[in-house]
Amino acid sequence: MRVGIFGLGTVGQGLLQILRERQPAIEAVAVVDRSYARKAELLAGIKASDDKNLILKDKSIDTVVELMGGIDDALYVVRSAIENGKNVVTANKALLAEHGYALFQFASEHGRTIAFEAAIAGAIPIVRNIETIFRHERITRLMGIVNGTTNYILTRMRKDHLSYGEVLEAAQKQGLAEADPTLDVGGYDAQQKLALLTSLITGEWVEAKNIPVRGITEISAQDVVWAERFHNRIRLVAEYNLIQGQHYMHVTPALVGEQNVLYDIEYENNALLFHGEYSAEHLFMGKGAGKFPTAFSVYSDLIQLQLAAASPVPVRKIETYLPIANIADTTSAFYLRLRVKDQPGVLAAIAQILGNNALSIASVHQDHSAVAAGEVDIVIHTHAQKRSGFYKALKEIHALKSIVLHHVYLPVLG
Ligand SMILES: NC(=O)c1ccc[n+]([C@@H]2O[C@H](COP(=O)([O-])OP(=O)(O)OC[C@H]3O[C@@H](n4cnc5c(N)ncnc54)[C@H](OP(=O)(O)O)[C@@H]3O)[C@@H](O)[C@H]2O)c1
Repeated sequence: MRVGIFGLGTVGQGLLQILRERQPAIEAVAVVDRSYARKAELLAGIKASDDKNLILKDKSIDTVVELMGGIDDALYVVRSAIENGKNVVTANKALLAEHGYALFQFASEHGRTIAFEAAIAGAIPIVRNIETIFRHERITRLMGIVNGTTNYILTRMRKDHLSYGEVLEAAQKQGLAEADPTLDVGGYDAQQKLALLTSLITGEWVEAKNIPVRGITEISAQDVVWAERFHNRIRLVAEYNLIQGQHYMHVTPALVGEQNVLYDIEYENNALLFHGEYSAEHLFMGKGAGKFPTAFSVYSDLIQLQLAAASPVPVRKIETYLPIANIADTTSAFYLRLRVKDQPGVLAAIAQILGNNALSIASVHQDHSAVAAGEVDIVIHTHAQKRSGFYKALKEIHALKSIVLHHVYLPVLG
């Protein structure tokens, strides 16, 4: 196998090292990188350029690895590689979430493969497991932590008693969060991965932008402390449920109890819990990112392509879009923290709204310690009810602007 690599950054450099150390049968013959001239010491014996045709027009290269990131150039590279008869390996979930439907069709029409193990949860071998072992299993539930940056932030907020802003700044200094962290902290990276995962699980294409998403930006140190008081932790969760033939999914920060496997997944680790109709529960846990863990997933795709060349497997065709059901029609218990004016009648007004919406309260707590004089934090846990009722109550509570200053709510993961 002769490989051309686009992008010699973190993952590209890791891949080059693995290929040099492990597999003489897979040869990296050319690299295209816009800053290749600065990386001469890494490129001994390998042709390099910033001209994409170095790889795309080289007929001796049968496989292209796309590790540049971004959308437009990556799209051009992947399409051109396929047009030129090459298979593609990519770690680019943003590209696949936006253009995957057309790209996979295009690859299928040309009899080529796009492999993307590294695009979802880094080193965790999830794509191949879904495509092989679970291909004929019905996955009824998936619940996962698929974004390492947000899990790192939430873990450090709890362990080091820091605010969201303090941890984010530290993570940016350490290179664990991007200068513009929106994709991660807004939940959009997890949304893209959930779209790819659910497309694989269902065999129908899921549009990432149609998946409801909430990020972690509104989570404060107080919420982390409240979670701990009740033996819970806050996680950014990507969730899929198949209920009576309907497909429900969302990305949301959630409270996770001690009995839940996601409780112990700390720092930048990722985890995915699947429930199969016959095979029951499967937990995958590992590094969701990083130079060598991610590069190893790319490398494993190359090995797989090499094996498939000896006995080709048909390229999976996804030809329909999956309708996503309304998450508000499902049930959940909720945590609700309200910062309110400390005056008589406030709690009664809130309880009235919850009652009017058929929401039953599991517990109510008050705390003056973390707030300014004249304010109080009220924390309410509800029993599991239809989400739509909770959202309606929330709107009505929010309208009590004269007494309710601010609120945060989290579903409790069952
Ligand atoms: N890092 C991880 O842990 C991780 C985990 C999972 C998936 N991924 C995915 O893997 C891909 C690569 O990530 P990375 O962390 O290795 O990124 P990176 O360190 O920024 O490396 C990208 C490399 O590609 C070059 N490049 C970017 N755009 C280019 C273009 N249009 N033409 C030529 N060269 C170009 C960059 O050059 P400059 O140096 O000049 O910018 C850089 O050398 C991304 O899709 C990412 O989402 C990464």
